[in-house]
Amino acid sequence: MMSPREPGEPGWFQFAIALKDTDTLVGDCALRVDEQDPRVGEIGFTLSRHHQGQGLGTEAVRALLGYVFNTLRLHRIIAVTDAKNTAAAAVLERLGMRREAHFIENVFFKGAWGDEFQYALLGREWPKP
Ligand SMILES: CC(C)(COP(=O)(O)OP(=O)(O)OC[C@H]1O[C@@H](n2cnc3c(N)ncnc32)[C@H](O)[C@@H]1OP(=O)(O)O)[C@@H](O)C(=O)NCCC(=O)NCCS
Repeated sequence: MMSPREPGEPGWFQFAIALKDTDTLVGDCALRVDEQDPRVGEIGFTLSRHHQGQGLGTEAVRALLGYVFNTLRLHRIIAVTDAKNTAAAAVLERLGMRREAHFIENVFFKGAWGDEFQYALLGREWPKP
């Protein structure tokens, strides 16, 4: 499948996360606008190991959600995390995302079945700018 050229078009779009002062690349976050219904989407995010634990993940995902809800005006965003990934769950819960599902042994990863959480938030639940 083709990747979209602009964020907000159907498919995954990847954004760089860079430090404000030096423009150093420290990670990425991504938005998938649903191919069937472009009013809903999914986000993902990763920071380089060296830059974790400084609040950058929360800052980046807050900016992404602000863009997705205030600029693109999407109706609903989900995020799926490994149930053992407490850092990722903490980022999403800090930003007000709601844990709506706990999938039991739904993924086979590194030789074992694992659980996942699904988080969600609606545009009307996101604070107005
Ligand atoms: C998940 C992930 C993005 C979280 O990013 P992060 O930047 O570490 O997360 P936060 O922004 O919440 O910061 C985490 C810690 O930094 C602390 N912190 C926040 N602001 C800070 C600051 N200004 N200075 C120092 N520490 C700070 C937070 O209190 C938090 O500490 P705690 O967990 O002990 O409470 C990151 O761990 C990661 O890339 N993991 C691997 C990939 C991954 O799992 N992606 C998610 C898939 S769904």
